[in-house]
Amino acid sequence: MKVAVLGAAGGIGQALALLLKTTLPAGSALSLYDIAPVTPGVAADLSHIPTGVSVVGFGGEDPTAALEGADIVLISAGVARKPGMDRADLFNVNAGIVKNLIEKVAATCPTACIGIITNPVNTTVPIAAEVLKKAGVYDKKKLFGITTLDVIRGETFISEAKGIDLADIKVPVIGGHSGVTILPLLSQVVGASFTDEEVEKMTHRIQNAGTEVVEAKAGGGSATLSMGQAACRFALSLVDALSGKADVIEYTYVDGGSEHAQFFAQPVLLGKNGVEKVLPYGELSAFEQNAMDKMLDTLKGDIKLGVEFVK
Ligand SMILES: NC(=O)c1ccc[n+]([C@@H]2O[C@H](COP(=O)([O-])OP(=O)(O)OC[C@H]3O[C@@H](n4cnc5c(N)ncnc54)[C@H](O)[C@@H]3O)[C@@H](O)[C@H]2O)c1
Repeated sequence: MKVAVLGAAGGIGQALALLLKTTLPAGSALSLYDIAPVTPGVAADLSHIPTGVSVVGFGGEDPTAALEGADIVLISAGVARKPGMDRADLFNVNAGIVKNLIEKVAATCPTACIGIITNPVNTTVPIAAEVLKKAGVYDKKKLFGITTLDVIRGETFISEAKGIDLADIKVPVIGGHSGVTILPLLSQVVGASFTDEEVEKMTHRIQNAGTEVVEAKAGGGSATLSMGQAACRFALSLVDALSGKADVIEYTYVDGGSEHAQFFAQPVLLGKNGVEKVLPYGELSAFEQNAMDKMLDTLKGDIKLGVEFVK
C-alpha cells in the first residue's frame, strides 16, 4: 500500500508522517510532498526510524512524483487558523491549494482514495469532487473529508467526564466539520447518561475544541498533534479495508446520498473499493434533532460555496 501525504512538512503533515511511519504495515510505502524545501529532509529524518515502511520526500511546485502509484492520498496542505479566525476564513487560500492538488491527483493516481484534512473541510471536499468530475474520474466511494478529530475529542472528553474506559467508548459525530455543523450524538454513547445541561456543555465543547487549541497556541497554529493522530487512525482503517479486512467502520464526511445534504459526515462501512455502504446513524434525541435542523442551512451553504468555486 502506498500512502501519499500532501502538506507533509506542516504541523499536521509531520505528525501524521511520523505516526504512519511507525504504524503502517511492513512493506508499505510512504510518500511525502510539500512545497517547503525541507520535505526531502523530513523524509530522510523519518527514514532512520527502523520500521518496514519505506519513505521518500519531494519538495518543489509539482506533486506528481509523490503521487505516482498512490493508493491513498491524504491532503493537509494549506494554511491553518489563528486566534479570532473560524474555518471559513481559510477558504480564500485553501480552496485554490486543494483545487490544484486534486487536479494532479486526477491526472496521476485517479483511482486512489483521497482523505481531505485541509479546512474548511465542509467546502474543500465538494471542491475536490467537482475537480474530479471535471477530469472525468470522480468516484464518490473514494473521497473522504476526515472528521475523525471530532470523534476522538468526543471519546477523550466523555471518557474523562464519565469515567468510561477509553477502550469501550464510541462517540458518533455526524454532520460536518465546523462549529454548529459538528453534531455529536451523545444520546447514543453507551454507558453514559447526561443531564440536559451536560448535553449542552459537552456538545459545545466538542464543537469548539479546535478553537480551544487555536487560542492555547496563541497564534502558533491550530491542532496538529491530535489531528495527526486522528488522520492516522482514519488512514489505518482505510488501509485495513482496502486490504480486505471486514467490518471497518469510520465516521467521515462523504457524498453518501444523505437526505440532508450532498456531503454529510456519517458512519460508513469501508471496503476494498472505499465506501462499501453508508450506514444509518440511528435515532436522534430532541436536542440533537433541533441542532440538526439549525445547522443544515450552514452546511448546505458551505457545500454550495465549494461547488461554485470550481464551476
Ligand atoms: N480536518 C481537521 O479536523 C483539521 C484539524 C486541524 C487542522 N486542519 C487543517 O489542516 C490544514 C493544515 O494545518 P497545519 O496545522 O498542518 O498547517 P501548517 O501551516 O503547519 O502546514 C501546512 C503545510 O502545507 C504546505 N503547503 C501550502 N501550500 C501547499 C501546496 N500548494 N502544496 C503542498 N503543500 C503546501 C505548507 O508548506 C505547510 O508545510 C489547515 O487547513 C488546517 O485548518 C484540519
